[in-house]
Amino acid sequence: MVAFCGALVAEKDLMGLASIFWRFVDFRSHFTATHTSGVVAIVQQLAGLCGLDGAATRKIAIAAALHDLGKLSVPAETLEKAGPLSSGEWEVMRHHPSCGCDVLGKIPALGEINTWANFHHEKLSGKGYPFHLSADRIPFESRIVAVADVFTALTEDRPYRKGMSREQTGEILRAMIADGSLEPELVGIAARCCFSSRTRSSGSRVPRSCTPGWRRTAKTRLSGRSSRSSGWMRNGTRKASSNGTRP
Ligand SMILES: [Fe+2]
Repeated sequence: MVAFCGALVAEKDLMGLASIFWRFVDFRSHFTATHTSGVVAIVQQLAGLCGLDGAATRKIAIAAALHDLGKLSVPAETLEKAGPLSSGEWEVMRHHPSCGCDVLGKIPALGEINTWANFHHEKLSGKGYPFHLSADRIPFESRIVAVADVFTALTEDRPYRKGMSREQTGEILRAMIADGSLEPELVGIAARCCFSSRTRSSGSRVPRSCTPGWRRTAKTRLSGRSSRSSGWMRNGTRKASSNGTRP
């Protein structure tokens, strides 16, 4: 149950409400029609693999469902633009987590969910947006949403590019680890999970490397900046100036 507007609301009811809003957001462009549902599915898998319990997983899934709520402030022409964005259009685009924060901030009971949702473009390097938070201020749950968001976005078609292959996605994710954008261990888990099954259903296989012991301690170990790397991450890491996608 989650305290909501003076009443205790079941997570499934809150998720139902969130799903209404995510459809308003995603259905504005056919390119993003399945974006949020994809992010939610990957977040649920990652949360489970990191040892979060059912209630915590349901709560972070609600955050994932609301992560792009602020995109309602972005004109549809910008979302659908095939050519490069102008500086003004980028500014509006990069402002969307602030708008989401303002909207969800009207409901104090959603404080944590608001944070987890709207820090999804913050980076461990401190070079994210819109709040430019340092790693110690980015919650574990926000890092999960961020990884799921990037993973989903890269593999989807956009008006300015086709959805990326496994190889292209892997190359960009490695570059984003190298430049301090994303949590390395979470990217490794997501890659092993999604690349091995290519499914976003809750029934995907658990990576063998994620032993029960690892999962029990994952949240604690990942609470600060991690330097652990896996074989997948060491494979051909190179620097990149752009991750080939938009927010
Ligand atoms: Fe976003």
